[in-house]
Amino acid sequence: MTQSNSVLIDVEQVWKSFGDLDVLKGISLRVHDGSSDVILGRSGIGKSVLLKSIVGLLIPERGHIDVMGHSVIGMKTRELNRLRKNIGYVFQYAALYDSLTVRENLEFPLRKHTDASESDITDRVLEQLRLVGLTDAIDKMPSELSGGMKKRIGLARAIIKRPKIVLYDEPTAGLDPITAREISELILSLEEQFGITSITVTHDLECARIIANQIYILDDGVFQHSGTYDELKASSDPYTRAFFQVAT
Ligand SMILES: Nc1ncnc2c1ncn2[C@@H]1O[C@H](COP(=O)(O)OP(=O)(O)O)[C@@H](O)[C@H]1O
Ligand SMILES: [Mg+2]
Repeated sequence: MTQSNSVLIDVEQVWKSFGDLDVLKGISLRVHDGSSDVILGRSGIGKSVLLKSIVGLLIPERGHIDVMGHSVIGMKTRELNRLRKNIGYVFQYAALYDSLTVRENLEFPLRKHTDASESDITDRVLEQLRLVGLTDAIDKMPSELSGGMKKRIGLARAIIKRPKIVLYDEPTAGLDPITAREISELILSLEEQFGITSITVTHDLECARIIANQIYILDDGVFQHSGTYDELKASSDPYTRAFFQVAT
């Protein structure tokens, strides 16, 4: 098997419930090195639960999750922290610390997870801001930024450690269509530049069209359908059609 074909994230038959609520019901997903996979599904269907399970923030009752060859379920905290150094996570809500400046928000993961020197940290922060086109915002507080700028800083922070894998939870939610498109294009460009493998959870079809190699449709605890954007757009399945009828 060639390197580019290797599986970086392997989710097998995973079950996760909260009390009586079965959210994931034997879900499986394989993400190959270099791929950008997108999960579509309506609100409350379990998209965030799946991402959190992949990084060990939630523990499924059954199944297997392998990330870069390491089994995540049952992994000890220390090992989990080591694995998380290779994973960037763009959270659905409140990506930035409100009481810290942009610079401090970006420095945080480097101080926490690396032993980079002060000058390296400064250089890296400036480089990240250049990559997302926000050098001028370095001393601003999050409250001074627009929604689109906050998302850009969130992306910059997620990739500042140069992770192999990035998980994006609704990266364009709450943005106007033009800004959303800019963010999707930025995600694509950063992934190409740094060879990132990613899973993106969204209900923004334009985002899926721009970044997805493969799209999975989550419903009733499993992926009901998968394919490229064009394949799913041409699908005759009613649930898939309901998703795509608004797309052009
Ligand atoms: N920590 C939790 N405790 C209890 N219920 C939860 C928890 N996290 C998620 N849920 C429930 O699981 C379901 C799926 O949630 P989620 O994955 O956040 O949906 P979405 O697809 O919108 O991201 C929802 O009904 C949610 O209320
Ligand atoms: Mg969610």
